[in-house]
Amino acid sequence: MSAIDAGSRTGEAPSSLGRSPLLEIEDLRISITSDGSSFDVVKGVALTVCENEIVCLVGESGCGKSMTALSVMGLLPRGIAKATSGRIDLEGRNLLGLPKRELRRLRADSISMIFQDPITSLDPVFTIGSVLEEVIRSHRNISRTEAREIAVGALVEAELSDAADRLDSYPHQLSGGMRQRVMIALAIALDPKLLIADEPTTALDVTVQAQILENLRARQREREMGMLLITHDLAVVASVADRVAVMYGGEIVEEAPVDELFSDPRHPYTQGLIRALPDISVSRGSLHSIPGRVPPPQVPPPGCLFAPRCEHALDVCWEASPELSRDGARSLRCFNAQPFEMG
Ligand SMILES: Nc1ncnc2c1ncn2[C@@H]1O[C@H](COP(=O)(O)OP(=O)(O)OP(=O)(O)O)[C@@H](O)[C@H]1O
Ligand code: SF4
Ligand SMILES: [Mg+2]
Repeated sequence: MSAIDAGSRTGEAPSSLGRSPLLEIEDLRISITSDGSSFDVVKGVALTVCENEIVCLVGESGCGKSMTALSVMGLLPRGIAKATSGRIDLEGRNLLGLPKRELRRLRADSISMIFQDPITSLDPVFTIGSVLEEVIRSHRNISRTEAREIAVGALVEAELSDAADRLDSYPHQLSGGMRQRVMIALAIALDPKLLIADEPTTALDVTVQAQILENLRARQREREMGMLLITHDLAVVASVADRVAVMYGGEIVEEAPVDELFSDPRHPYTQGLIRALPDISVSRGSLHSIPGRVPPPQVPPPGCLFAPRCEHALDVCWEASPELSRDGARSLRCFNAQPFEMG
């Protein structure tokens, strides 16, 4: 059966068989109000993250990855962005429907997030130790000494060298990579069930990126956390993901276990991203990129959002939007998927 056969279920995200779902996003729609007009930047996204798995969310800049993540954290910019429909279930409870105080507690106990920029994420006037102690003590009824012990343990786990000595350092005394290790320590100190990492290594140089990713993955496996890792870098995806969701123009266009996504990519956009991987481009002797640009969310084209850039577009693609169709562990949004050719 092909992924787009009639009769397959739509609107639900595939999840990893045998693992319990931790985060289940269903039909999430996020609208932005800017200059007096409103438009959707996340359009019916469905995504599941199970315990002990890493789901990568990939896609070009502006496709709605961060908005999706921020909505889970309740951190959408106020007065600008709003979740207008859908569900965000954490272990079966819809975060979008909970009273604020309960929501804060539930999130604090269960979810942590690491942001892209370790420089602005740490307040320059506090030492690393005081920030960690404060966060730990605000959630646990423990002494300062006990909080300090947990803080050092988390910094050791994040592989920050001379962890105990760093407690008295200020952020500006640490390199970008070290600051990101502090952010990882902060994120894991409270033992979250779900970790969301939004481009956690983009601001770092390549060698440090690999070490930080390796560390994140090791902590995730040890603690059996669910992890939603956001990146625009398919090489990162290949090295850490269990499952991958590809986003384009505010929609999920393909989702698959990582091996299947790379061995048998079905959506023309995913295929273009894979052809553009530097290793593949170099081995073919030419650099490949997907022609055209992501459509602005204010004026989406009619029909399939990818049609203006798609080499397989049919007449119907310019008129109707393809539904996301599910086939076992995979899903796909395309009227005319073709087998992958390296090009
Ligand atoms: N504060 C804002 N005001 C107006 N539009 C915004 C704002 N923040 C985001 N947007 C728009 O929302 C859309 C989705 O943005 P989002 O930050 O989720 O993209 P992204 O996939 O995370 O991109 P990137 O890879 O660059 O981080 C984009 O079109 C962006 O321009
Ligand atoms: S639906 Fe049509 S235009 Fe859209 S990706 Fe598939 S073939 Fe291309
Ligand atoms: Mg982003």
